[in-house]
Amino acid sequence: MTPKCLPPSVMPAVVIFLILMPAVCSAIKVNCSQPNQPALLEALRPVFNLSSIRPVMNMTTSTNITTLFTMYGILGVDEKAQLLLTYLWLHYWWMNEFVSWDPIQCGTDRISLPKSLFWVPDIVINEFMDENRAPSVPYMYLHSNGRMHEAKPVRVVSSCNLDIYTFPFDIQNCTMTFNSYIHFASDIKISLGRDAVTITQISRDVMTTMGEWELLDITANDNQEEHNDDYIDELKFHVRVRRRATLYVVNLLIPSCFLITVDLFSFLLPPQNVDRSSFKMTLILGYTVFLLIMNDLLPITGNTIPLINVFFSICLALMVASLLETILITNLLCGSADFSPVPRLIQVLVLQILGRLVCMPQKTKRPGDSEMKPNFVVAQQKPDGKLSEEMGPVDKSLQELRSLGKNLQAIRLQVEKLGGSQGSEDWIQRCPRKVKPAKVLFICIISVLMHAPCSSVMLNCSQPNLPSLLEALQPVFNLSSIRPVMNASTPTIVSIDFTLVSILGVDEKAQVLKTYIWQTLRWRNEFVRWDPEQCGTSRITIPRKLLWVPDIVINEFMEKNSAPFVPYSYLYSDGLVIDDQPVRVVSSCNLNIYTFPFDIQNCSLSFNSYVHRLTAMQLDLSSNVSDILKHSKKVMTTMGEWELVGLTVNSYILPAGGEELYQEMRFFVSVRRRATLYVVNLLIPSCFLITVDLFSFLLPPQNIDRSLFKMTLILGYTVFLLIMNDLLPVTGNTIPLINVFLCLCLALMAASLLETILITNLLCGSVHYSPVPRWIRVFVLHILGRLVRLPPKPRDREDTVTRNPAAQEMKVSSLVAEDSEVSQQKGPLDKEMVWQELRSLGSDLQAICLQVEQRLGESQTSEDWIQVAFIIDRLLFSFYILFISVSFITIIIIWMQSNNTS
Ligand SMILES: *[C@@H]1O[C@H](CO)[C@@H](O)[C@H](O)[C@H]1NC(C)=O
Ligand SMILES: *[C@@H]1O[C@H](CO)[C@@H](O)[C@H](O)[C@H]1NC(C)=O
Ligand SMILES: *[C@@H]1O[C@H](CO)[C@@H](O)[C@H](O)[C@H]1NC(C)=O
Ligand SMILES: *[C@@H]1O[C@H](CO)[C@@H](O)[C@H](O)[C@H]1NC(C)=O
Ligand SMILES: *[C@@H]1O[C@H](CO)[C@@H](O)[C@H](O)[C@H]1NC(C)=O
Repeated sequence: MTPKCLPPSVMPAVVIFLILMPAVCSAIKVNCSQPNQPALLEALRPVFNLSSIRPVMNMTTSTNITTLFTMYGILGVDEKAQLLLTYLWLHYWWMNEFVSWDPIQCGTDRISLPKSLFWVPDIVINEFMDENRAPSVPYMYLHSNGRMHEAKPVRVVSSCNLDIYTFPFDIQNCTMTFNSYIHFASDIKISLGRDAVTITQISRDVMTTMGEWELLDITANDNQEEHNDDYIDELKFHVRVRRRATLYVVNLLIPSCFLITVDLFSFLLPPQNVDRSSFKMTLILGYTVFLLIMNDLLPITGNTIPLINVFFSICLALMVASLLETILITNLLCGSADFSPVPRLIQVLVLQILGRLVCMPQKTKRPGDSEMKPNFVVAQQKPDGKLSEEMGPVDKSLQELRSLGKNLQAIRLQVEKLGGSQGSEDWIQRCPRKVKPAKVLFICIISVLMHAPCSSVMLNCSQPNLPSLLEALQPVFNLSSIRPVMNASTPTIVSIDFTLVSILGVDEKAQVLKTYIWQTLRWRNEFVRWDPEQCGTSRITIPRKLLWVPDIVINEFMEKNSAPFVPYSYLYSDGLVIDDQPVRVVSSCNLNIYTFPFDIQNCSLSFNSYVHRLTAMQLDLSSNVSDILKHSKKVMTTMGEWELVGLTVNSYILPAGGEELYQEMRFFVSVRRRATLYVVNLLIPSCFLITVDLFSFLLPPQNIDRSLFKMTLILGYTVFLLIMNDLLPVTGNTIPLINVFLCLCLALMAASLLETILITNLLCGSVHYSPVPRWIRVFVLHILGRLVRLPPKPRDREDTVTRNPAAQEMKVSSLVAEDSEVSQQKGPLDKEMVWQELRSLGSDLQAICLQVEQRLGESQTSEDWIQVAFIIDRLLFSFYILFISVSFITIIIIWMQSNNTS
């Protein structure tokens, strides 16, 4: 047969090839003219022209590749992306049937030559996810019997299903599958050159680095299952590596054990004397920093939560519980005076049953206690009375008056001492007032400083072997620059198929989705057709660059394809070309982070020809979408942060400017975030903190420094905001709900802190304030007070409380006066003495009255202010509870919805 439709210019070339071919194909043994290297190179030259085909004469002969590797280093593990980084020295051996020479005739039994001159197998590691960044080695060895030896270093970035349950004491079992990317088992077989035990031994001896990971063992299993011809032979290695946990133990576990011990011992702090709640709050702050570190270290996987995270979370929960209990105790200790008596139920349950359980029996009430004291006092007075019986009645009354005077003087001294301290209090209060303008200036300066920051051509093979087929294909290769159709108006139909192998991650900041796909394109080349009988084979693998390849691109592609390069494609006798290659897709995607971390992202991958219009190229789908989805889910082994939930496809015909149209095949990939670890690491701790803030309203502001406590809480909260800021992108359209939630929480915390400061100010400083203005009295005390069930205290009772003692004292003093009048009947000396005694008594009493009146008058204005403070406090507390319950219900509903959509 002669080529029918080939352009005339190709004809002479074909004729030349037909003449040259027999000479090439019989070249099995190479003859050297001289026993030196240049002569050998000269003799090898015809072999180099055969570099694009597999070096076998009969296509049914398989190329057996022997491989082995030495693991030179374990560079690390990326838990977030579920990757294992290793450095390997790879060796491949195979036979080249086209070449052999006599070592004596040529002077050497091997020669090193550039790899580009020969066919090299497309062996890849299936789990390889990134480009090989190891230095490239351009040479390989060729032995006199035709044995080829290729060796190269590879920096393997392989995906691995990392089990982090027992972190940091984890052992990872990672798989490396060696196989040819496109060659079927009938073409390439792969076998192990050395047993796995020796490989492990040599790797251990060679490994110099003492990094985080230690090689345990390497096991190999050869997939020898016999299918039909169309399977790919693979060699699986299981590499087990163990983490060296010492540093994690020293850096994480021991400090956290220390913190828990401190928390345990903090129960020994007496809650009456020391501010235990502030202490515990600071401890929780330290703990959130640990959670921050854990969040950076660990991946978000859907199947398991690491044990260490569970441990940390339980510790935090215990700390929060003990803090809440401390707050409750402080509340009881300081505020129990205003409470109604302990109900009977609590009395029995807590005091008697629980009390016995913890070896703190109920204090037995001694009923005599209250009566004993007066009796004692009476008993003390009795001897005095006996003594005075011997004296006269005036002497007696004088004696009585003297003792009374002494007692009064003592009381006056005490009261005056109190008054003196009142004076010092005034000093303390007055001094800060003078400092105030300076303070304001200082704050101003600080805030200023802070701002600065066919009809096809039938080919003829002269012989039914590969070299002759290659020669016959030569004219087709010369036509590789044009679309393989005879008539330019015939469109090329390209079928697209892909398998989503791995979802490497989502970059919210850059708005990109990183995936790894195996992309298969099929089309028909009208220039090629051969008789399988005549040429000895129905298919052949040839380098892709020798053929025309469609310019199918993914529109959203943002980066160059860094997947391992696979140079070969299959060409069938009927002109079908199957082009298969891995692609690491970095595609832009409009990420909707409104419902983070319960978000489902829908990203599109649009396949289209970059320049060809609809008249030149049409797209088609070779298998249906549900099969693609099913196969992808089967192949995807890693349980990373993202889970594939759906895949749909749509074909669009779009205008391409002018009258022309182009076709686009758009796949929509739905991926869902596995939110468990975000819930455990972020949401639950922040809920704990909010609960603590809620309970902090129970701390009595009179006794405990509530503002310091709240400030520490806000500091802990900013740590969470810091994590969020690292995690989330800054997009113009939507702010994630969780950020809004966290910000509102912070706002409430800040508001409650300001309110606490106000209350503390009112409680301590209201003594010097002018009385409460009328509108505040009406609005706050009456309206708001009723709203929060803190009705204003009845005013008249206050009056009786304040005025009565004074009145009673007046009566007492008059009684005393009457008594003294009665005793005037005695002698003048006695009268003089009694009068003197009475005068001093009167002045003492007056001093006491003055002090008491001053005190009572002050407390009246301050009591109103304090009432205002308490009403505002309770109002904010109710607002807080309302907001927190609404937002928690919202978050739980969103979470349930996102879980139901799976
Ligand atoms: C190489 O030399 C041998 C004799 O030494 C001869 O039989 C053979 O045909 C020669 N081969 C080529 C390719 O010249
Ligand atoms: C090998 O290819 C070169 C061009 O690359 C050509 O000049 C030479 O004739 C070819 N040799 C054979 C034996 O086909
Ligand atoms: C390759 O190995 C198979 C058995 O696995 C054997 O039958 C075949 O002859 C070998 N081929 C070569 C070229 O060594
Ligand atoms: C590693 O995992 C593979 C399957 O993933 C399993 O067949 C092999 O036994 C495991 N190796 C060890 C040592 O557990
Ligand atoms: C190729 O090998 C197969 C079996 O190995 C044999 O049947 C066939 O005849 C061979 N073809 C040629 C052209 O030698």
